[in-house]
Amino acid sequence: MRAPFITFEGPEGGGKTTQVALLERALLDRDIRCQVTREPGGTELANSLRKVLLSVATHGMGAKAELLLMLAARADHVQRLIRPGLDEGTTVICDRFVDSTVAYQGAGRGLDMGLIGKLNHFATSGLVPDLTLLLDVPVEVGLKRAARTSRPDRFEGQALDFHQRLREAFRQLAEREPERIKILDARQPEEETARQVLEQVDKLLRERG
Ligand code: TMP
Repeated sequence: MRAPFITFEGPEGGGKTTQVALLERALLDRDIRCQVTREPGGTELANSLRKVLLSVATHGMGAKAELLLMLAARADHVQRLIRPGLDEGTTVICDRFVDSTVAYQGAGRGLDMGLIGKLNHFATSGLVPDLTLLLDVPVEVGLKRAARTSRPDRFEGQALDFHQRLREAFRQLAEREPERIKILDARQPEEETARQVLEQVDKLLRERG
């Protein structure tokens, strides 16, 4: 059996980067081999695409081009980093994955959800996370937090209703797939969120024996 594949998702400013790092440390402390990665990104090609996708210089990019670039990055990432890692027994922790495409390009940009599902499946060759931690945060709170650490990128700079739609989409995904996607309230202290993350990961590890 391949190693566990864990993803973090959510609107901007939910503290994913911090939680990913805390989970990595907790797993390494237990001698569990793991690899942290993120999307878009993770390989040379995907990192180049990330620059293009996030840069405010490409603000006129059409929604279809945006979707296809996200998926090109994902296809390379899955094929060359995630899948080989899982197959050799490394637990992979990924900051954003397929659910972000449903939320941002589907709910946010209004592209066809059925098509996004098919393209996600194509790009990942059907790889689905074993556990997804959804760090949910009200849009205004999250955007304010994100603005504290850096200038808004092309996504953070979108209108409030774009962010509201994608937050709602994440919550709906969690309702539809409660076994895989666990909603955590990212407004609570980060130590408490980290405790809940570990609780979910432990449950997954126990189930997998
Ligand atoms: P982040 O790593 O700082 O969260 O930035 C990645 C940005 O890319 C974030 O604004 C969400 C966006 N994104 C999509 O729009 N679709 C996707 O499929 C992924 C993985 C990310």
